[in-house]
Amino acid sequence: MVNKKSYVAQLISLKKPAVTSASAFAPANIALCKYWGKKNLELNLPTTPSLSISLGNRGSNVNISIAAQNYLSINNQVVASTSTAFKRTFDFLNLLAPNDIKFAVQSSNNIPTGAGLASSASYFAALTLALNKLYNWQAPLTTLSCLARLGSGSACRSLYHGFVKWLNCDDPLQSYGIPLTTSWEELRIGLLIFDPTQKSISSRQAMLHTQSTSPFYKSWCENSIKDFEILHSAINQKNFQLLGETAEYNTFSLHAVMLSARPAIIYSKPSTLHAIEKVHELRCNGVQVYLTQDAGPNLKLLFLEKDLAYISNFFSELEVVSPFAKVDNWAP
Ligand code: PMV
Repeated sequence: MVNKKSYVAQLISLKKPAVTSASAFAPANIALCKYWGKKNLELNLPTTPSLSISLGNRGSNVNISIAAQNYLSINNQVVASTSTAFKRTFDFLNLLAPNDIKFAVQSSNNIPTGAGLASSASYFAALTLALNKLYNWQAPLTTLSCLARLGSGSACRSLYHGFVKWLNCDDPLQSYGIPLTTSWEELRIGLLIFDPTQKSISSRQAMLHTQSTSPFYKSWCENSIKDFEILHSAINQKNFQLLGETAEYNTFSLHAVMLSARPAIIYSKPSTLHAIEKVHELRCNGVQVYLTQDAGPNLKLLFLEKDLAYISNFFSELEVVSPFAKVDNWAP
């Protein structure tokens, strides 16, 4: 079996940093067809294909510089060296750095961290892009996507704007995000954040637990493959109803398979269910709005620009993202 070190050696040759400091931005991404389970734990290879939409200018800005001591801050808060975030960061850097260089990493996220809003995806994607500059690897995006995937699976989709797919393939060198060419200017994502606190169980742990204990995991995978195909054609045809219905169905299938794990994993809070009811109420009134939920209690709403005023009025706390709006200074 290929281990991480030898896998990285196939992708890049480790060398000395070219500069002492580098920065990069990467967008968060929201999965419409979710990644939930690994067929290779070491290399983060998924059991199913997934498909996401990136959140434009919402994501992570990461600066990395050579330092005397390893140091991590997120949103100007120093992260303890005993924390999971610190360990994940420096395990990742140890893989990609040739010797015992120490780094100071500063990340600022303009989405809540660890609340199921894909901040780890944008973080590892931005960190990989910053490393590409620090080491002057000049690596193609497919390579950087493979590297980011080792930090967090869904990070491989955060290297791009717009719709991105990640296929379930057996060759780890081909397991990267692939941007779709469709641009859908009218599409809006509403972030409904009622709980910005850290989730109780990480998606990494939760997906492994689901995979190893749910009697329905195999059905989830079979269904997810179908959802992926339907979502792909909904995007090609710009069929919003099909996109919304399928994304919402995929979400509820995901949370159902988590509920069937032993013990059950429950990310929803009473406020989540209350908001789901409100979305369904709007739909009963003829408004085309759909929801998606990841490993956290918050919801993301999918709708079109024409319904923006109505929906924003209904959900006063909604933060609206235009995923296809031009993003300044985006040079991965
Ligand atoms: O990449 P991870 O390990 O943070 O897992 C992401 C899991 C979901 O956000 C729930 C789904 C997805 O495809 O992004």
